[in-house]
Amino acid sequence: MSAKIIDGKQIANQIREELKAEVEELKSAGITPGLAVVLVGEDPASQVYVRRKEKIALELGFYSLTLRYPQTMTQEELLASIHRLNEDAKIHGILVQLPLPDHIDANLVIETIDPKKDVDGFHPKNVGALMLGKPIFVPCTPAGIMLLLQRAGIDPAGKHAVILGRSNIVGKPMMNLLMQKQKGANATVTICHTGTKDFTVYTKQADILIAAMGKAAVVIGDMLKPGVVVIDVGVNRMDDLSRKSGYRLAGDVDFTSAAEVASMITPVPGGVGPMTIIMLMKNTVRAAKRVRR
Ligand code: GUN
Repeated sequence: MSAKIIDGKQIANQIREELKAEVEELKSAGITPGLAVVLVGEDPASQVYVRRKEKIALELGFYSLTLRYPQTMTQEELLASIHRLNEDAKIHGILVQLPLPDHIDANLVIETIDPKKDVDGFHPKNVGALMLGKPIFVPCTPAGIMLLLQRAGIDPAGKHAVILGRSNIVGKPMMNLLMQKQKGANATVTICHTGTKDFTVYTKQADILIAAMGKAAVVIGDMLKPGVVVIDVGVNRMDDLSRKSGYRLAGDVDFTSAAEVASMITPVPGGVGPMTIIMLMKNTVRAAKRVRR
């Protein structure tokens, strides 16, 4: 292996320490950052994510509220719950864990969240602000990747960043962040998606490759340019009966072959994942600070 590993866990820990000081300062001004996480249904991966968010929020000294609702909850009930959180002065950030059950319109739910409490950055107002280069709340995974690049000493300016995946959660905001004309960005960006004919043509040109397709080990070393920086957003559960949990996590990138070619690479787990959670906390602190002003 020649690639250097970008340790997301370690960088997220640094940011958590920095945030602690900010939380203390807010608390001494009488404001406790409040985060509400809403989970509908029993999706096992979502349950794990929500528990992690709750744990870190509490460690940071936040007021943490987790609302767990059954799969059968109606859309009206969920919208009513969000309206109550919008009105709750103790809550500065609201996150509704996705995916939602099919009978609930996720877009409508997102639009119902007060944009000032939209710490996921998914509300159309926040999406528009990011696209216009005036971000308020930036979606947590792409924001975490930008910080990961910065702290790993990688400047995207003038580089070709290739993003695999066009989701609203990762691909599209990632594109918007990387192409902004500002320090720490200013890359040339290509997005590949399920309609792309031969994405190896593009991966071979990437100086920075962001894999966010949600398909295990699709990217292999042979598809990469030597020296590329690989950011693996994939968290795919693979059956593994040798483990107590019955599964292991695999990224969208085949780590072993990619690490032979790349100059730097994020592992799964321990790369992008810890950054996503800490950015949610950072956005919540930001939301709480906006109240003070
Ligand atoms: N599901 C997967 N990633 C995310 C995320 O960043 N936010 C929310 N709300 N749900 C998700």
